[in-house]
Amino acid sequence: MTTTLITGGTVVSATGRAPADVLIDGETIRAVLEPGSNLLGTDVAASVDRVIDASGRYVIPGGIDAHTHMELPFGGTAASDTFETGTRAAAHGGTTSIIDFAVQTYGQRVQDGLAAWHQKAAGNCAIDYGFHQIVGGVDDDSLAAMRALPDEGVSSFKLFMAYPGVFYSDDAQILKAMQVARDTGMLTMMHAENGPAIDVLAQQLVDQGKTDPYYHGIARAWEMEEEATHRAIMLAKVTDAPLYVVHVSAKQAVEQLATARDKGWNVFGETCPQYLYLSLEDQLGAKSDEWGAFEGAKWVCSTPLRARADGHQHAMWQALRTNDLQMVSTDHCPFCMKDQKELGLADFRKIPNGIGSIEHRMDLMYQGVVTGEITLERWVELTSTTPARMFGLYGRKGVIQPGADADIVVYDPNGHTSIGVDKAHHMNMDYSAWEGYEIDGHVDTVLSRGKVIVDGDEYLGAKGDGRFLKRGLSQYLL
Ligand code: URP
Ligand code: ZN
Ligand code: ZN
Ligand code: ZN
Repeated sequence: MTTTLITGGTVVSATGRAPADVLIDGETIRAVLEPGSNLLGTDVAASVDRVIDASGRYVIPGGIDAHTHMELPFGGTAASDTFETGTRAAAHGGTTSIIDFAVQTYGQRVQDGLAAWHQKAAGNCAIDYGFHQIVGGVDDDSLAAMRALPDEGVSSFKLFMAYPGVFYSDDAQILKAMQVARDTGMLTMMHAENGPAIDVLAQQLVDQGKTDPYYHGIARAWEMEEEATHRAIMLAKVTDAPLYVVHVSAKQAVEQLATARDKGWNVFGETCPQYLYLSLEDQLGAKSDEWGAFEGAKWVCSTPLRARADGHQHAMWQALRTNDLQMVSTDHCPFCMKDQKELGLADFRKIPNGIGSIEHRMDLMYQGVVTGEITLERWVELTSTTPARMFGLYGRKGVIQPGADADIVVYDPNGHTSIGVDKAHHMNMDYSAWEGYEIDGHVDTVLSRGKVIVDGDEYLGAKGDGRFLKRGLSQYLL
């Protein structure tokens, strides 16, 4: 067992910051010490194998990305990051745990969908991983099977009000699934967009010859997100079950969440870096020499990027400050332009939905600290501590304290990170959704359960280092 001492840094938690040294014994944090605690002459000092100098740097709990889609089948193709490539990219970016979505599709048994995801991930991950369960076919069989999920360490499931014919659930199905959540203590995660109405709007745009990626954002209007968010909240309310809305992008959807929370209801939401920085005008509407107006396909995801002119991005930052949104996940679901996004060259509806950001979430959110949108402590809370609490990992993950897993990032606020497909990018994508972003800050050292897996820009981990995380019930409920 290796004993490691991280010295000279500032340990940051969700509630404060202080100079401190961190002593790690094997996979576990043993002590958080006064800076410069003189260990000489103690039996501890004799056995410290490695000292990591964190002077001038922040020492934070490893990032937890609670929304990823490795190898997700979508639109006749599959997300381009495997568990191996995607979790390695995550490690480079200071993320030490992911929660990915196991998929049950219509007609398939929930148990079989979950087993298939274990098969994909086992022995391949660079960092620890857990699963939520997508229930794409709610019926008596799947409802019964869902009741067994908490014992499997899968304490949350996702339903879709979008994608009719694929993952879609109607209101009756949602209500029944939420009743299972109420009975079992599971958390319902909702993709809140009115899919049937969006499909009509999309068809009408295509009929008018409006087939460019830009119209993906027009068809998926904010009204369709606000409406579905409201409906999801009321269905959760009537069943007395907690609700977690994923990938919130519309300011009106946030208003729905805020109104419910002001009433004391158990309603939560996440947003993603793309909804904080990117927009309908600048990205979905982009043109390039290489791709023309199809350039926008790089940023086709659902919910879509919203109009900056309408102030959605500003509203997302504000909601992160006011705790109307509690977390930032990536919704990492990468597709290459070549052969994948290209499937929708003639029709935006055929562009596989998703953006890859798993490597950049910690850096992109740290920019919010640099620009004064959020505090240093809120950065840690949004990216690590709340994800751990929300999804039943807290104590083991999300905090630097004795007894916790030694998942730790040494982050240099004076460092620099250039993002681009030819630069630091380790995701399996042939473009970057964040090309040209220059980050004030750098992930210097990453430890996963006590093992240094990233040192500078060098990867020192191995495929299979990551273990399955059996999660408990949410520790965040009001
Ligand atoms: O565009 C997205 N978000 N793709 C992944 C699937 C989902 O809806 O989260
Ligand atoms: Zn979704
Ligand atoms: Zn997703
Ligand atoms: Zn680097």
